[in-house]
Amino acid sequence: MQGQFPTHCGSGMMDCKCLMKPTCTLFYLFLISLELFKVQSLAPNKTASNVPAVIVFGDSIVDPGNNNEIETLIKCNFPPYGKDFTKRIATGRFCNGKIPSDFIASQLGIKELVPAYLGTKLTAQDLLTGVSFASGGAGYDPLTARLVSVLTMNDQLDLFKEYKEKLRKVAGEGKANTTISKSLYVVVTGTDDLANTYFGTPFRRAEFNLPSYINFTVDCASSFYKELYHLGARKIAVVGVPPVGCVPSQRTIEGGLERHCVPLYNQAAVMFNSKLSTELDRLNKTLPGAQIVYIDIYTPLLDLIKRPFAYGFEESTKGCCGTGYFEVTLACNSLTTSTCEDASKFVFWDSYHPTERAYNILIRGVFQRYGSLLN
Ligand SMILES: *[C@@H]1O[C@H](CO)[C@@H](O)[C@H](O)[C@H]1NC(C)=O
Ligand SMILES: *[C@@H]1O[C@H](CO)[C@@H](O)[C@H](O)[C@H]1NC(C)=O
Ligand SMILES: *[C@@H]1O[C@H](CO)[C@@H](O)[C@H](O)[C@H]1NC(C)=O
Repeated sequence: MQGQFPTHCGSGMMDCKCLMKPTCTLFYLFLISLELFKVQSLAPNKTASNVPAVIVFGDSIVDPGNNNEIETLIKCNFPPYGKDFTKRIATGRFCNGKIPSDFIASQLGIKELVPAYLGTKLTAQDLLTGVSFASGGAGYDPLTARLVSVLTMNDQLDLFKEYKEKLRKVAGEGKANTTISKSLYVVVTGTDDLANTYFGTPFRRAEFNLPSYINFTVDCASSFYKELYHLGARKIAVVGVPPVGCVPSQRTIEGGLERHCVPLYNQAAVMFNSKLSTELDRLNKTLPGAQIVYIDIYTPLLDLIKRPFAYGFEESTKGCCGTGYFEVTLACNSLTTSTCEDASKFVFWDSYHPTERAYNILIRGVFQRYGSLLN
């Protein structure tokens, strides 16, 4: 089986619809389609930052709706997603409200929401202040995105090249160059490589043990960052992976009757983060003018999970959507599930993604710890 999958990081080849047929069938049962609404973007509130734009790559943590435009089952542009968003719009954000990229842009005083590059009628102002290319289900390992037919990191870089052209047309070459070199690039991915591809399917385990898979994935990450630098990015914030073993769905699958955190998955996350941050340090030193910052999210999210009450949360082991044990994306919808009344009491919105309030707390912490490097 594993012979099908190239063990290199490049893009291209198989654009398979879905390799996990039983999972597809299961998901189809939950599939409901709803009308797309347009996000009403809010006026930027302040200035003060040197950063003209926030440009985002990665997975569902920072996908504001790119997957709405892709033929994939990894979508959430239907209620109860967006329950606490402006006008309750289900934009395609994998959350009840705003996501980390939105909080980062507003912390920098740039704008309130970072729009999806796909499916949005982007104005010149949108282009000048940044967009997101992130795609729910993506990972550094290209197989991760292919397993669920979403954008690989290389696909996202291709869209970025297209974006640069558009930017040049609206802003002129000089200003476009400045925007590209001064912007903050935010990358959040890696969780799905571990949780979905490595632990969730047999394909990579057949060819790699855990340390060598992490090596391979970090190699893919390194290629991505070199290419991003080559395309003009300088200030790059790279968010590491969270404690994957404590995410509600993983507790349900592997945590036993009491749904404990899964130690092996957390160890994998720690190992991955350690390798990734070492490699990023190396790149930061070898690429002239680069300012690559590794951002630890493992420690602060684990603290939210272990001490929810200290932050005003009441629940950190289940999601707000449905039973909270397994519902995510298509399984978290208004037909099959009831949703908790007040998501702000939950660390997790669905069985995989934090709530808007948890994201807000985490991003505030990021700015306290790394703010001087991001401005
Ligand atoms: C913009 O950047 C490109 C590629 O780095 C360079 O060739 C070009 O001279 C720059 N143009 C201006 C006006 O700075
Ligand atoms: C991972 O890569 C490093 C060098 O980059 C190598 O020294 C190490 O043996 C590799 N580990 C595994 C488990 O493949
Ligand atoms: C990255 O390198 C720059 C020099 O280009 C340096 O000023 C900065 O402190 C380094 N950042 C990190 C996080 O190591």
